[in-house]
Amino acid sequence: MSATIVRFAAPRLAAALLGVALAAPAVAQDAGAPAPQAQAAAKPRIVVIGTGGTIAGAGASSVNTGDYDSAKVAVDKIIAAVPEMSQVADVRGEQIFQIGSESFNDERLLKLAKRVSELVKQPDVDAVMITHGTDTIEETSYFLNLTLKTEKPVVIVGAMRPGTALSADGPLNLYNATVVAASPEAKGKGVLVALNDEIHSARDVTKGHALKVEAFRSLYGPLGVVVESKPYFYRLPARPHTTATEFDIDRIDSLPKVDVFYAHVTMDPKALTAIADLGGKALIYAGTGNGSVADYMEAPLAEVRKKALVVRATRTGGGMVIRNGEEKDDEQDWVAAGDQSPQKARILTALALTTTDDPKALQEIFWKY
Ligand code: DGL
Repeated sequence: MSATIVRFAAPRLAAALLGVALAAPAVAQDAGAPAPQAQAAAKPRIVVIGTGGTIAGAGASSVNTGDYDSAKVAVDKIIAAVPEMSQVADVRGEQIFQIGSESFNDERLLKLAKRVSELVKQPDVDAVMITHGTDTIEETSYFLNLTLKTEKPVVIVGAMRPGTALSADGPLNLYNATVVAASPEAKGKGVLVALNDEIHSARDVTKGHALKVEAFRSLYGPLGVVVESKPYFYRLPARPHTTATEFDIDRIDSLPKVDVFYAHVTMDPKALTAIADLGGKALIYAGTGNGSVADYMEAPLAEVRKKALVVRATRTGGGMVIRNGEEKDDEQDWVAAGDQSPQKARILTALALTTTDDPKALQEIFWKY
């Protein structure tokens, strides 16, 4: 047994050393409980797709919580190290990538989404989980949220600390994500991201801290929480997702190139035009404040607009970019990204461009999703 697996099993080990039996809530028997065979037959069948990340990471020592290699441990080993998962579901693993999520690209997004789409169509699959690096969970989950045609639960999970670390968060996150994926309440709520005892909508979730276990937040709050092996939902996603969108992963085989330009004090306009010269179909301008455009960037951005659509977003991490406020979007033929972050605006714009290249239609898509 590797050091990693030992660490993943640490809570059980600690309990054994203390002489304390770990609670096994899903199999707790009472007089009215069904026979074990009947319970086993009723368990949801979940496929866990491994993509890498810190949840599959390993450090040199137990005190390495931030300095470690991600994407080292195979998904089957991660599952084997959390046997509590099998108390709530019949779980099997499938390794699709073994990467840090910063290395996701459109090709990998499409491959993952198509595989999830195949799996959710299978009658013997009740839910899909994805283990994923936390850096870009928000982009992958949003992409899946917009393109999968299913009501079945799809839950993405990651960890901020590798399994080798003291107080590794991966095992509990994985168990809680299983509890969510196995629950009837998770059906029809779109793609969910479960970490740190919280359940987030893929539309809203964002990584807001580079190191803390409490790294994820949703602008309008999580949809729910997991407490003692039970999910509690308190909100519903208001915006269309999965079966209610016009984007279908089964009909998308490539994505148009869309780039992001990050605004700051003392920009070089040539950096902006150089990005546009790379041939993207749209450029997300991650502006300061309310998606503001510096006076000396207006002419270069007008040049960009001759070659590509321009979407104004905000680099602030919150709030809504107002159309025709300080910036005259109608005059410039720009699109306002609403409350979507530049990285999520990139995903939505790329998908929208598979159906339209009209800026007015793109604006409507931003208001809708
Ligand atoms: N390289 C990062 C990634 O896979 C590790 C971060 C993490 O998973 O928490 O996204």
